[in-house]
Amino acid sequence: NLSTNIAGLHLPNLFFNASGVCCQHEHELKQLLESDSGSLITKSATYEMREGNPSPRYVPLPAIQSSINSMGLPNEGYEYYLAYAKKYDYSNPKPLFVSLSGLSVADNKKMVEGFVAANLPCVLEINFSCPNVPGKPQLGYDMEAMESALNVLAPIIKKPFGIKLPPYFDIAHFDTAAAIFNKFDNLAYLTCINSVGNGLAIDFETETALIKPKDGFGGLGGLMVLNTALANVNAFYRRCPNKKIIGVGGVTSGKEAFLHVLAGASAVQIGTQLKEEGPKLFSRVKKELEDIMVAKGYKSLEDFRGKVKTL
Ligand code: DHB
Repeated sequence: NLSTNIAGLHLPNLFFNASGVCCQHEHELKQLLESDSGSLITKSATYEMREGNPSPRYVPLPAIQSSINSMGLPNEGYEYYLAYAKKYDYSNPKPLFVSLSGLSVADNKKMVEGFVAANLPCVLEINFSCPNVPGKPQLGYDMEAMESALNVLAPIIKKPFGIKLPPYFDIAHFDTAAAIFNKFDNLAYLTCINSVGNGLAIDFETETALIKPKDGFGGLGGLMVLNTALANVNAFYRRCPNKKIIGVGGVTSGKEAFLHVLAGASAVQIGTQLKEEGPKLFSRVKKELEDIMVAKGYKSLEDFRGKVKTL
């Protein structure tokens, strides 16, 4: 049994897409609906539609089952995703998550107000961690700005919602961020992690950066970020006992998903591997995780969630 609960909603299984992959357009969201995923989340929306950065802007790094991207928030604009959420069939067993990534708190406020006015049973995930818009730092690395944004948005949203976080690399940052999050009761879940921001991938032969935007700097995803992701999942699982954690980062098979749940994840999103393999991936990772659970004698995710042992 791979079922789970996030923000008061039931997911038939813990797997879904990481926002950004296979979710900008309706035909992609349809593929997710038809797949074996347990849910789906839309591409991070800005108030106005955006073309994003010049290509190449996503490149797989197959030798290390990883990727680098600097998409620059290409999206259809929040009204497109609001219209999708309005016509979504909520009798579907998969709850709908909607990612919002305003370029300012004012834009996030306007988008949130649009969704609140529509009074839909979808869940908002506010993205505090896009690393790829030139001139816009990741909000999640500015603790005061993050708290101010939550002070504005949480009371407007009222019902349970989530935030997408960048990876943190220092214990003091885990402590400070968690203390802020714990002030907001309806902040129901934390999604850890967004890409590891501003890596650089260089082709050995041509001595050239692999992606075009930002002199080749872009967010790293895939297996190379697994251990950073597990640390962030577990750090917030330990510090935020009243919140759920959605684990993202480095999941290529049921095995990494199992590790995310051991670290404390209640659901698992998949980015790079979904981009490379397509939505049929969900049947495979479900089967792999079920086989691991049978082999270890676990019947439900609760049997091992957060139960990583330490020495
Ligand atoms: C983009 C990348 C992110 O990591 C994110 O959280 C939002 C948007 C992007 O480049 O499109």
